[in-house]
Amino acid sequence: MTSQNWDPIEFLMNRRSLVVRDMTEPGPSDAELDQIINAGLRVPDHGRCAPWRIQIVRKEAQGRLGEVFAQAYLKEHPDATDEELEVERDRPQRAPVLLVVTAYPNMERIAKVPVMEQKLSGGALCQNILNGAHALGYAAQWLTEWPVYNSDIKRALGHAADTEIIALIYIGSAPEKPGERARAEYAQVVTEWKSPEDNPVAAGIPPRK
Ligand SMILES: Cc1cc2nc3c(=O)[nH]c(=O)nc-3n(C[C@H](O)[C@H](O)[C@H](O)COP(=O)(O)O)c2cc1C
Repeated sequence: MTSQNWDPIEFLMNRRSLVVRDMTEPGPSDAELDQIINAGLRVPDHGRCAPWRIQIVRKEAQGRLGEVFAQAYLKEHPDATDEELEVERDRPQRAPVLLVVTAYPNMERIAKVPVMEQKLSGGALCQNILNGAHALGYAAQWLTEWPVYNSDIKRALGHAADTEIIALIYIGSAPEKPGERARAEYAQVVTEWKSPEDNPVAAGIPPRK
């Protein structure tokens, strides 16, 4: 797949996710996936905590993960129909490549780098991965859905029950360019702070006294 030859600001202004149900082959090659992940690793990381882990789940392994999803779903919904279980089996298999991103806060550093900051770094990493995928011409979507909160699924992925899966990032190709999506309006969320006496926060939100 060729790189998008866009002006960087145009690239950011046009960025969009593709809903995973529309994703098709091909996915990134191994070298391209390395590039995408390396773009993710170039992320603001206060104190160099590296407080995240990334697992690559390729096609065959996606089938095994689908079975884990189906069994975990059945445990929570003993009356699940075959159709429902099939949906769960298919869930991690909807795109050529799946990345599982987990937060691993560096607890020795939390006095200097609070857990909140370390988790935000994980969010930034996910966004950089989306941008890296888009820059190489691939489609991507950041999902969570119920499996990220399920401890059986976390265990099967090798994580403790209290580890937070912050993203399941699906990467593939887009059969056609996705349409636009309504965005938060600038005036709704952006204000200019001038002084403690003149401190609007955002439209409809009165300043805190
Ligand atoms: C942490 C996080 C979790 C998300 N989980 C879901 C999800 O489970 N299901 C969903 O439809 N969209 C989810 N989204 C939204 C999509 O990633 C994406 O924002 C949406 O498809 C719109 O795409 P775009 O704004 O990137 O163009 C999540 C987004 C974030 C940041």
